[in-house]
Amino acid sequence: MLADVELAKAYRLLNHGPTVLVSSAAGGRQNVMAAAWAMPLDFDPPKVLVVIDKSTYSRELIEVSGEFILNIPCRAQAGQVLSAGSDSGRERNKFSVSGLQPQPAQRVGAPRVADCLAYLECKVVPEPHNQQRYDLFIGEVVAAQADDGVFRDGRWHFSDDVRRSLHYIAGGAFFATGEAFSVV
Ligand SMILES: Cc1cc2nc3c(=O)[nH]c(=O)nc-3n(C[C@H](O)[C@H](O)[C@H](O)COP(=O)(O)O)c2cc1C
Repeated sequence: MLADVELAKAYRLLNHGPTVLVSSAAGGRQNVMAAAWAMPLDFDPPKVLVVIDKSTYSRELIEVSGEFILNIPCRAQAGQVLSAGSDSGRERNKFSVSGLQPQPAQRVGAPRVADCLAYLECKVVPEPHNQQRYDLFIGEVVAAQADDGVFRDGRWHFSDDVRRSLHYIAGGAFFATGEAFSVV
């Protein structure tokens, strides 16, 4: 079941460096792309960073709407993540052909991708120089939810092999997030 994540703790959804699906919408079109270059930036108000290349259709939609969602997919979705990162939504509606299902979000017009582990709904904090020069987008997290089967009490609790987050290497190869350990 999806449960709210306290916004000041939303950074924990990204702290371990998962590959994400960035979803967006504008002018009646919806899209989704893969992004390995995403990270937390601040606690309160919570902010994230993500690199969205100029060539992408997602970039176009995000620049128009000023919104995006970082969806955290799981190992079972790895093939769809690769596919969302290999084709452009300019040529095909990835939600129609990839098996990824759009769902309404809480606070932004971009759709969530169904069955992901967690969602960070973001509004762009405009930084035109960084966007133009480095393709770097800052988002303020305005809503965060996670599957309480895998994230609760501010921590990830992976127990099932298919409901683990992903880390991308290259050429279609991923790691799944491994076992947690503590040094205190
Ligand atoms: C696993 C994976 C991670 C990726 N990470 C990024 C990223 O961090 N930033 C980026 O701009 N593109 C990244 N890409 C490439 C985009 O996902 C790709 O260009 C995509 O086709 C853009 O789709 P769009 O044109 O529909 O927006 C990645 C691709 C893959 C497969």
